[in-house]
Order: sequence, then C-alpha cells, then structure tokens
Amino acid sequence: MKNVVLIPGDGIGAEITNSVTTILEEAGAEINWIECSAGLKAYEETGNPLPEETIEALDEHRISLKGPLTTPVGSGFRSVNVALRQKFNLYSNIRPARTLPSIDSPFRGVDMVLFRENTQGLYIGKEEWIEEADNKKHAEAIAVVTEEASEKIIRAAFEYAVKNERKKVTLVHKANILKLTTGLFLEVGRKIAKEYKDIEFQDLIVDNMAMQMVLRPQQFDVVVTTNLFGDILSDLASGLVGGLGVTGAANIGDDAAMFEAVHGSAPDIVGKNVANPMALLFSSLMMLEHIDQKQIAENIRKAVYKTLVEKKVYCTPDIGGEGTTSTFTQAVCDNI
Ligand code: NAI
Ligand code: MG
Repeated sequence: MKNVVLIPGDGIGAEITNSVTTILEEAGAEINWIECSAGLKAYEETGNPLPEETIEALDEHRISLKGPLTTPVGSGFRSVNVALRQKFNLYSNIRPARTLPSIDSPFRGVDMVLFRENTQGLYIGKEEWIEEADNKKHAEAIAVVTEEASEKIIRAAFEYAVKNERKKVTLVHKANILKLTTGLFLEVGRKIAKEYKDIEFQDLIVDNMAMQMVLRPQQFDVVVTTNLFGDILSDLASGLVGGLGVTGAANIGDDAAMFEAVHGSAPDIVGKNVANPMALLFSSLMMLEHIDQKQIAENIRKAVYKTLVEKKVYCTPDIGGEGTTSTFTQAVCDNI
C-alpha cells in the first residue's frame, strides 16, 4: 500500500476525486488515501488556504493527487498551486498529449510528452517599473536560467524517454535571440544528449516548433523547454488532442510529486453530476506509473478508451456525451 495525499479541492473537486478514487479502487490500485484540505474551502474553515496539517502530510508522504483549487481573492494569500510547487521544488511540469478515441480533433496519431521547467525563466515574478523622463510607462522583466535547473529538467526528460521506451527528445529554445538564457538551456541540452546515445536529440526554435506542432504533431515524442515556452506549448499540445478537459498533468521534483488536473474548479457546474473526471483520471494514471503500478494504469487507460468508443451514452456533455459523472465512472469500472 502506498500512502498518497488526496486533496479534493474546490468546486467540482469532490465529484471528480470521488470518481477517480472509485475507478482506482476497482482496478486494484494499492493506495492508502490520506485526505487533506486546501483552497477556498480550507480557507473558509481554517483561515488558511494551505493548512499546516496539509503541508505536514505532503512533507511526510511526498506524493499527492490534487483537485482544482480556488485561490481566495483579496485574502492576501498567493496561489496555493504556486506555493506547493515552490515549497517542494517540483521543477518538472509534465504534460502528455495523446490522441484519444472519439474525441473531436483534426489531428490523429499524436503521442507526445512535454516537459516544462517549472521554477525559472520569465515566470519568477521579477518585474519592475522604470522611471522615464517623459512620464511614459516603462516596465521590465527579468528571466532566470541556471545550469543546475536546466540540467535537472533536461535530464528528467531524457530519463523519462529511457524509462518509457521513447525514441526522441526535442529541446525547444530561442537561442538565436535570447543568447544567454535560452542559449544556456540549449548548451546544457546538447551536453546531456551526448550521454544518451540511444535517444535521438533535436533542437528547434520555438516559433518553428509552434508551426511544426500544428503541421505534423506526430513527429514529436518527448519535448523539453523553458517555463514560458512550456506554458504555451503544453496548452497547444493539449489542444491537439481535445483540450484541457482530457489531458493530465504532473509536477515532479527530486523527492516529491503532485498530480493534478489542469482545469479549474468549474463553479458553473458544481453539484450537477456533469463534471468530467477524465483530466484528473489521466493525472492519476501518471501517478500510478510514478509509483510503479504501471500495469494498473494501463488497464484503466484501456477501460477509458473502451468507454470513449461509446462516448454518447456514457461520457459527460463537455466532450459531446449525454451521460453524467456517475455513468462515466460506472462504465469505466465495468470495462476494467
Ligand atoms: P475552469 O477550468 O474552472 O472552467 C472553465 C470552463 O470549463 C467552465 O465552463 C467549466 O464548467 C468547464 N470545465 C472545467 N473543468 C471541467 C470538467 N472537469 N468537466 C466539465 N467541464 C469543465 O476555469 P475558470 O472558470 O477560469 O476558473 C474557475 C476557478 O478555478 C477559479 O477560482 C480559478 O482560480 C480556479 N482555477 C484553478 C486551477 C487549479 O487549481 N489548477 C486552474 C485554473 C483555474
Ligand atoms: Mg498554462
């Protein structure tokens, strides 16, 4: 039994985590859930959107599955998601994008996994106003790229490729313009690639990458890039296979990992039994792979694909079904 911290979160969080834990149990996953609170509900109950007991549980057990959190507006608290990523140094944001049966998309045969550096780049929040004599506004931002952090994320991408029998790693950069920052990222990538002789290495400039992903996304396998490019390209990748409602996500560091859905708490559909648990379910499959319960993940994936073939009957309206959260959950359980 593996201890996993479960944070249902806000809005549709309870509905979708219920569905996911039901499916994992049906599939025989060996997990002991430790339920903790965070987000708006936690804030209303305890005055803190990230209660101390939750941090202690995460500290102790190191693996978590997290539903969407609503950051209380005007409370003075910063985003709980960002705080968790920083606290546990979850430097890789991993977003697979794989073509699904019966999901509308002009693209077929997509199967890529994008690694986004999660802690540096332009997203460190170092922005400032610059005084100008003419009183016109002037803002500047700083991007940070270090050799150490670049090595960590690029190595994580290569290690993933080896472990999952992937053939190619594509590093995305803009080293022709941002010569020092993304230039360093590229330099580190070229160095690390030499250690992995069986994996093909390719580097692409980000604008070309954007075009290639839309022209022929099937050419990509594992992709690794800096924070800002990764933010944009990972949503693009999700868009190729049906959007944020059907793609999972993981935040992984050296000694902690948090698996989460990328969508929000969907306040407009709370309690209506129409929330789609699929994104969180795919995140939980990444978790099962991470904790070496790969076969169980594979069995669930097959059951979901089988369910998708009869999408209209069993799946939720957001992906064109006429079913509910419950009918989807039951159908996946029946198909396992
Ligand atoms: P949202 O993702 O919650 O909703 C956008 C639209 O997508 C809504 O129409 C919603 O009904 C639909 N939707 C989202 N997830 C769905 C699902 N699983 N099944 C069916 N339909 C789904 O984004 P929004 O409205 O911008 O944000 C709402 C709240 O969520 C905000 O408080 C925001 O801060 C929070 N949020 C949290 C995130 C996280 O914890 N990772 C990420 C994004 C937003
Ligand atoms: Mg994003």
